[in-house]
Amino acid sequence: MQLHQFIHNSQAAFEAANLVYGHGTTNARDEAIWLVLWRLDLPLDIDINEPQYAERELTADEVLSVGTLIEERITTRRPAAYLTQQAWLQGVSFYIDERAIVPRSFIAEALAYGHIDDWLPALPKRVLDLCTGNASLAILSALAYPDAHVDAADIDELALEVAAINVTQHALTARISLHTSDGLAHVPGDYDLVVCNPPYVNQTSMQALPAEYLAEPALALAGGLDGMDFIRPMMAAMPAVLNDGGALVLEIGFEREHFERAFPNLNPIWLPTSAGDDLVLLLTKDMFNTHPPVLQEPTTTT
Ligand SMILES: C[S@@+](CC[C@H](N)C(=O)[O-])C[C@H]1O[C@@H](n2cnc3c(N)ncnc32)[C@H](O)[C@@H]1O
Repeated sequence: MQLHQFIHNSQAAFEAANLVYGHGTTNARDEAIWLVLWRLDLPLDIDINEPQYAERELTADEVLSVGTLIEERITTRRPAAYLTQQAWLQGVSFYIDERAIVPRSFIAEALAYGHIDDWLPALPKRVLDLCTGNASLAILSALAYPDAHVDAADIDELALEVAAINVTQHALTARISLHTSDGLAHVPGDYDLVVCNPPYVNQTSMQALPAEYLAEPALALAGGLDGMDFIRPMMAAMPAVLNDGGALVLEIGFEREHFERAFPNLNPIWLPTSAGDDLVLLLTKDMFNTHPPVLQEPTTTT
């Protein structure tokens, strides 16, 4: 069978199985291309429409081996990144396994496109990646700010094991320090920039999660009744660890309504992302000083 036919069949099988995407791809075709090319050890950025690839005949062994992987994606519903143990963010490759959530933070875009820098008096020298998971944002921060030292903190020791693998693979052990910390409780401070992609999925959404997302650590996703359980105390503690001129960049996904209900007096800057302009917010230390967060407790999940 030719490669294009195998990819077509895999896409059709994914569509028939109603798989859910969002861990590196957004649709059945891209997911099929990713897994087939990966298993065949072909570069992921080739143009599969080019005849030299499209018409490549798969050997019987290859058909068996790629077919097994496609079947595994369908039967286990594990995200493709867990099957390949590799995830990509802004063109940077990261090791990943089930000990940590598959990296996909939109803060990666803000770092890559320099959207944060306009709000800082100078490029940051001290950065914290709070809720670091596999350390992808810590590594992208270190790459974006070559003079910065980055602290990367997470409460989950298993996630930090994955983080350590990535920091070593990217040869950044001298510039990134890993910390076990519940929120800001055990981070060294003080920071010119804090990036944070916390657990923020509200209870109603958690109860409706598809299997692919249930394969990830619940600790990485669940944010309580209104998604703000982690964010409330973190916001209260944040000004104490921010240097003058510093800023917090916080991802809240599609929870803007809950965020604004929890912090009615804040007026953050919303940074643009490819999925919308109200998923990632920025608050400077000055904004925290002018309007200290006034917390509203959750009353509803709607
Ligand atoms: C949405 S994931 C983000 C991971 C990573 N930054 C990324 O973007 O892929 C949230 C992370 O927060 C961590 N976490 C959950 N509760 C925490 C807490 N109380 N203190 C510190 N980290 C926490 C989880 O272990 C998980 O790794």
